[in-house]
Amino acid sequence: MSATTSSVVGNLQHSLSVERASEFTEEDLHALCEAADAAIIDGGGFGWVNPPGRMALERYFRGVLLVPERELFLARLDGIIVGSAQLVRPPRNNEAQAFTATLMHSFIAPYARGFGLARRLTLRVEEAARALGYQVLNLDVRETQEAAIALYEGLGYIRWGVHPAYARVGGRTIRGIHYFKLLQPGGRIA
Ligand SMILES: CC(C)(COP(=O)(O)OP(=O)(O)OC[C@H]1O[C@@H](n2cnc3c(N)ncnc32)[C@H](O)[C@@H]1OP(=O)(O)O)[C@@H](O)C(=O)NCCC(=O)NCCS
Repeated sequence: MSATTSSVVGNLQHSLSVERASEFTEEDLHALCEAADAAIIDGGGFGWVNPPGRMALERYFRGVLLVPERELFLARLDGIIVGSAQLVRPPRNNEAQAFTATLMHSFIAPYARGFGLARRLTLRVEEAARALGYQVLNLDVRETQEAAIALYEGLGYIRWGVHPAYARVGGRTIRGIHYFKLLQPGGRIA
């Protein structure tokens, strides 16, 4: 299910929507790979530093839909997929952390930023995690991802730690910032 709203940017009205993916049309997969490619080239790819090529991206996203612990959420601008995020549940053996989930690999293509799609995507993932009974949502970002830091801190994520050797990009070691958010009403752990 996706709820569509509209947003006026400049003089133009745009439709914005976010949905959970269960399968891809060829057109949707093409648009998703295009968006991922553009985000990676821009420097904010989800782990990738260099674009891995269209075939690898297609295999990657088809694979995500097959992983039982992962749910893929898609953002659309005027009906076209321009970004995604993943809700990752803990594996079944991790009983001690069965109340926590992780938001990973969130991105919006550079050509679709500033419309409020990442905020909607994040809130949709939170809603899905909450509906599944999770009480804590974890996430982490590179310290260079300033837009993401503003996004998550604006949505109430609590910064709890800094990883000094989180990522390597262009031969440089980059720190990572770790966040969590309590999902249930009143921010309590039941
Ligand atoms: C971070 C990212 C997802 C934001 O996407 P977006 O759709 O443009 O974000 P939104 O339009 O929903 O903006 C929501 C909030 O994010 C923050 N934000 C977004 N872009 C920003 C920017 N360029 N600079 C500072 N803050 C920014 C703001 O707080 C904004 O709220 P506001 O509009 O009320 O000021 C996008 O820039 C991106 O894909 N970056 C590269 C990948 C990445 O960092 N992913 C997240 C970590 S895995």
